[in-house]
Amino acid sequence: MCGIIGYVGPRQAQDVIIGGLRRMEYRGYDSAGIAVVADAGLALAKKAGKLANLVAELAESPLPPSTQGIGHTRWATHGGPTDGNAHPHASQTGRVAVVHNGIIENFASLRADLEAEGVTFASETDTEVAAQLLGREVERAGSLVDAMRAVCNRLEGAFTLVAVDALSPGRIVAARRNSPLVVGVGVGEMFVASDVAAFIEYTREAVELGQDQVVEVTPDGYEVTSFTGEAAPSHPYHIDWDLSAAEKGGYDWFMRKEIFEQPRAVSDTLLGRLDGEGRLVLDEIRIDDAELRRVDKIVIVACGTAFYAGMVAKYAIEHWTRVPCEVEIASEFRYRDPIITPTTLVVTISQSGETADTLMAIRHAREQHAKVIAICNTNGATIPRESDAVIYTHAGPEIGVASTKGFTTQIVACYLLGLYLAQVKETKYGDEIRDLLSELEQLPAKMQHVLDGLDQMAGLARDFIGCKSLLFLGRHVGYPVALEGALKLKELSYLHAEGFPAGELKHGPIALVEDGLPVFVVVPPQGRDQLHDKVVSNIQEVRARGALTVVLAEEGDDEARPYADIFVELPKVPTLFQPLVAVIPLQFFACELATLLGHDVDQPRNLAKSVTVE
Ligand code: F6R
Repeated sequence: MCGIIGYVGPRQAQDVIIGGLRRMEYRGYDSAGIAVVADAGLALAKKAGKLANLVAELAESPLPPSTQGIGHTRWATHGGPTDGNAHPHASQTGRVAVVHNGIIENFASLRADLEAEGVTFASETDTEVAAQLLGREVERAGSLVDAMRAVCNRLEGAFTLVAVDALSPGRIVAARRNSPLVVGVGVGEMFVASDVAAFIEYTREAVELGQDQVVEVTPDGYEVTSFTGEAAPSHPYHIDWDLSAAEKGGYDWFMRKEIFEQPRAVSDTLLGRLDGEGRLVLDEIRIDDAELRRVDKIVIVACGTAFYAGMVAKYAIEHWTRVPCEVEIASEFRYRDPIITPTTLVVTISQSGETADTLMAIRHAREQHAKVIAICNTNGATIPRESDAVIYTHAGPEIGVASTKGFTTQIVACYLLGLYLAQVKETKYGDEIRDLLSELEQLPAKMQHVLDGLDQMAGLARDFIGCKSLLFLGRHVGYPVALEGALKLKELSYLHAEGFPAGELKHGPIALVEDGLPVFVVVPPQGRDQLHDKVVSNIQEVRARGALTVVLAEEGDDEARPYADIFVELPKVPTLFQPLVAVIPLQFFACELATLLGHDVDQPRNLAKSVTVE
């Protein structure tokens, strides 16, 4: 949601800023804008719609040359996506310009006060309140950084603000509370941005900022202070991926590239997890073993696809550790007064590490003195920073809005955590854990095998192009895979798609089945309890009512095959690991169908990659 960038250095700010905004397009937005500090003062351009509209406007009326500026892609919250509501917003005097990510919750009362004092507002946004306050404060305080601190102390809610002052050339001031902001450190140039993709072209050195901090950057350095003006700690780090990871590399969509990167991403997530004695090591777990041994309940909290990864993880973690494990949607968690004690382990899963609902859930859990472990793909993001420990997935940047490699690597990281807990609690023998790890290590090759056979799904997408509704069924770990298959289709193709536990069919959903309705069924591997046979019966039930069955089952499953209109073969893997191979054809099918329908696969309508407001 909202991409923010600020630049100061020797280059033309407009080029750097537009390039940075382009790399943050994936975050989701509906208008874009830029402001630079030029010799004659501030110059602004902003346009509703895609960045291309702003670029076209700049081609017609270029901004004056400048080496300092700020830019923004806005995902509308307060006020529609119009030119006037697009950021940057300038103060009434035109002295300062501000871009903002987040929601200023007390904007209405602040705006009423300012209007009573004679300030005229040019937009409907909450952001303009910050611009107007900053414009007045900078006159009083004299410096932009002092003014920023004073303003931040009056704001409630979540915000990252980046500002320029026409009277302070060569300087940018930014502040953050509950919204992301990272500093990029170049040679003789500096960047601030919502994420490192915005400046990865120029530098791989970054600085994480903490909560309630203000940073002042000049071409040669940066200074971090708290909202009250004391020097504050910051954490420099090296970004372990480069520009090529943030580019499409010959694919038409980032999503397609990311689907195909999954074997590598899963291998990297598994890399280096065994010590010389064959014991599982998770360096990032900073909770001691004695404390983990006392854990008597695990609660996994996440949103969307990450929630479905958590649903898969529950089966594995309970099976291996015998500790009860709940999975909860983050936005529901803290509002129901959950039973959390100091012996509850809360596990959050978030690709971006910035999802506001998940972050609030962490804070709630920590207030109840629970330990929190984050599973996250983004180094230095707020969620891992605020957790007691973190297991990083090593998927590399995920730019397609629909999560793919995020999902599979999250599942793998959860498995590692489950096995680690089993090792610590001694609910599994060392050789059992080693066997499971060695099965996991074979997964990338099996995922590659699935990727090599995806032509069948491309054909299926062509056949299903006229469909209006699709169902997905699964049981056990196949159920979250069904939910994920339906979610991918909804968000990319905008078609009605539902996922159900296959066993629930007869309790209602079967009424949806009619002639020609495509029903995708994830069949558990053969020979596991009676699950397999029950799902095969479910396939027959929907087929008898006219459904067109797409059956995803393991190779050689001759019991399921006769009831499949389309049989999608999966490699043989243990039941708990089946989601890692079963989800790939569903991801690819959704990507193909959306492409055929002419949709923007990487930036589906209304969606943002990282949901930084509740
Ligand atoms: C769906 C999707 C979303 C995210 C959800 C959580 O394809 O990507 O449902 O999974 O918004 O995001 P993170 O993992 O960044 O917390």
